[in-house]
Amino acid sequence: MFRILEKGLLAPRVNRYVVHAPQVARSWRAGQFVIVRPREDSERIPLTIADGSAETVTLVVQEVGKTTAVMADMQAGERLADLCGPLGVPAKIEKVGGVAVVGGGVGIAPAYPIAQAHKTFGNHVIAILGARTRELLIMEEEMRRASHETVIVTDDGSRGEKGFVTTALQRLLDLGRTIDEVVAVGPAVMMKMVAALTRDAGIPTRVSLNTIMIDGTGMCGGCRVAVGGRTKFVCVDGPEFDGHQVDFDLMMRRQAMYLDHERGTYEDYLETRRCRLDATREPSRR
Ligand code: FAD
Ligand code: NAD
Ligand code: FES
Repeated sequence: MFRILEKGLLAPRVNRYVVHAPQVARSWRAGQFVIVRPREDSERIPLTIADGSAETVTLVVQEVGKTTAVMADMQAGERLADLCGPLGVPAKIEKVGGVAVVGGGVGIAPAYPIAQAHKTFGNHVIAILGARTRELLIMEEEMRRASHETVIVTDDGSRGEKGFVTTALQRLLDLGRTIDEVVAVGPAVMMKMVAALTRDAGIPTRVSLNTIMIDGTGMCGGCRVAVGGRTKFVCVDGPEFDGHQVDFDLMMRRQAMYLDHERGTYEDYLETRRCRLDATREPSRR
C-alpha cells in the first residue's frame, strides 16, 4: 500500500505523485486532504487530494521544508510510510450559477477537483490561475478542461496577463461578468486579498486554509483559526471556510510561529542532501 506509482516534476520544487491508496481513492471528495508520513521517521504533513482514479490518489507537493524535501527525494516504486484519509469536510458544491475558482501557485492543484465538481454540478466555471512566473504555472491544461473559461496571470507578465489573481478577478467584475461565488486556494495573503475584494462586491467566498497541522484529529489545537470570532479547527471543521469570516492576520502569525526552527531543520536536511549527492558523484571523479 501507498506505493508511489508515478512521480514527475511540474515546476521547480513542485512534484506530482500518483500513489496507490485504494481505500482513500474510493471515498474522497473535492476539498479533502490526507496526512502523509513519507518515511518512518518523518513528521506527518497534510496534503490535498488533487485527483484520483479507482485505486490511486494524486498529490502535488511543493518543497518548502524538511518533510516536503524528504518526499521530494522519494522516487516511483518507493512506499510512503503512512497515508491517512480522506480527512476534512468536502468542499461545498451547490448550484449557484457563475463560479470563479481562483488558484494561486501550488494552490492550483487543490483548486482543480473543486473546479471539476462545480462544472459537473452545472455551474459556469471561470478559472483564474496565478503564478509568480510562467515556469511556476502548473496544471493549466487540466484547469482548462475543468472550467468553461480560463484566465492566466503571472506576477511578472511572462505568461498571460501581468498581475495578481486579484487583478484578473477585479477586471472580470468591472466587465460586469456574472460571478455568484468565488473559491480561492493559495497562499494565505492571496486568500485574504481575494476575500477583501469580494466582501466589497458582496460575493460569497470560500477559502481553503493551509494552517500548521499536527495530529489532524481535532485534539491538539495546532490548526486552530478564528472564523467569525469563534475558534475552529481546520482539520475537522475545514479546510474550507467562509473567507469573509476568517481572521487571516491571526492565521498568518500562527503559520510563522516555528519559522526559525523550520528553517534550521530544512537547512540541516539540505546539507545532508548535498553530502549524499557529493558521495554519489565521487567515484566518477576518480
Ligand atoms: P516546515 O518545516 O513545516 O515549514 C517550512 C516553511 O513552510 C516555513 O516557512 C513554514 O512557515 C511554511 N509552511 C509550513 N506549513 C505551511 C502551510 N501549511 N502553509 C504555508 N506555509 C507553510 N502543500 C502542498 O504542497 N500541496 C498540498 O496539496 C497541500 N495541501 C495542504 C492541505 C492542508 C489542509 C494544509 C493544512 C496544508 C497543505 N499544504 C499543502 C501545505 C503543507 O502541508 C506544508 O507545506 C508542509 O506541511 C510543510 O512541511 P515541511 O516540513 O516541508 O516544512
Ligand atoms: P506564490 O507565493 O507563488 O503565489 C501564487 C499567486 O498568488 C501569485 O502569483 C499571485 O497571483 C497570488 N498572490 C500572492 N500574493 C498575493 C497578494 N498579496 N495579493 C493578491 N494575490 C496574491 O504561491 P506558492 O509559493 O505556490 O504557494 C502556494 C501556497 O498555497 C502555499 O502557501 C501553500 O501552503 C498553499 N497551499 C494551500 C493549500 C490548501 O489546501 N489551502 C494546498 C496547497 C498549497
Ligand atoms: Fe490538531 Fe487540527 S491538527 S486539532
